[in-house]
Amino acid sequence: MAHEGYLWRVKKMTANSDSNSNDDFERFQTGAAKYAAYLETPEGRLRLDLAFANLQEFLTQNTRLHTLDLGGGTGSNAVRLAKLGHHVTLLDSSAEMLNIAERTAREAGVSELIVLKHADVGQLPNLFPAESFELILCHNILEYVDDPCAVLRGAAGALRDSSGMISVLVRNQAGEVLKAAIKDGDLGAAESNLTAEWAHESLYGGRVRLFTAESLQAMLLESSLAVTAERGVRVLSDYLPPSVSRSDEYDRIFELERKLGSRPEFAAVARYTHVLAHRADRVHEDPVIKDGA
Ligand SMILES: C[S@@+](CC[C@H](N)C(=O)[O-])C[C@H]1O[C@@H](n2cnc3c(N)ncnc32)[C@H](O)[C@@H]1O
Repeated sequence: MAHEGYLWRVKKMTANSDSNSNDDFERFQTGAAKYAAYLETPEGRLRLDLAFANLQEFLTQNTRLHTLDLGGGTGSNAVRLAKLGHHVTLLDSSAEMLNIAERTAREAGVSELIVLKHADVGQLPNLFPAESFELILCHNILEYVDDPCAVLRGAAGALRDSSGMISVLVRNQAGEVLKAAIKDGDLGAAESNLTAEWAHESLYGGRVRLFTAESLQAMLLESSLAVTAERGVRVLSDYLPPSVSRSDEYDRIFELERKLGSRPEFAAVARYTHVLAHRADRVHEDPVIKDGA
């Protein structure tokens, strides 16, 4: 496995955009190791495990998919998919993230199934032929890009016909309200988060875009994508006392979160919203991906 085509220096590419783009670029360079460490914490693991379990509900066994992981970071999802036999192209603008992904894939013995692409997701329409992928992951990247709708449109164009699926995971505004009140005891922040479009990223600083069910739905619609299923990720685990969250109860917390996340009344206030979607022009053909669960 090699980094396929270091196409350009992303920093140069963003020279004409606002300063947030360069901040974003820097945080994922310098914060890559911190991010990898976060994914080892119970919170990080839960986010990965829950989202992946949601995704697996829709994957047909014994089908090998061509998958694109947008902003795939340290490769956690790419490696899981490759272990199931899928081919994965992991696209990311951070060379540091890609270095970690390369190492993780090598150690997991799945390097030959993963291609690393160093590029900005904004260039997606120019990077691959249309309809190249049967599955596209868009997990926790839309929070950081200038134009999330453009990314979704690009992803829709790269998605193969009617049978493909896109998996979108984003930070949920409602979850920030509960977090501010319950975790931080900050009633003022809880109230302002009711309408906030941005939150502060505690892991590596900078801002992170928040989504509501309505804003995400509107973006999907504008990108000609239709929702197959919606889940919440991490409904209450963030608020458990450390005696529980840092105990050996991980499996029980995971199982409870799975149940909560699939019930709309709980999913609505989860920390993350997870949407599985397909192209809206869908005419049912032979699905490589299950239609629903
Ligand atoms: C929060 S991490 C998520 C990583 C991974 N998807 C996951 O779920 O663990 C965001 C990732 O998006 C990447 N990213 C941010 N903006 C990007 C852009 N414009 N183009 C490509 N990658 C980008 C970052 O480098 C980082 O690896």
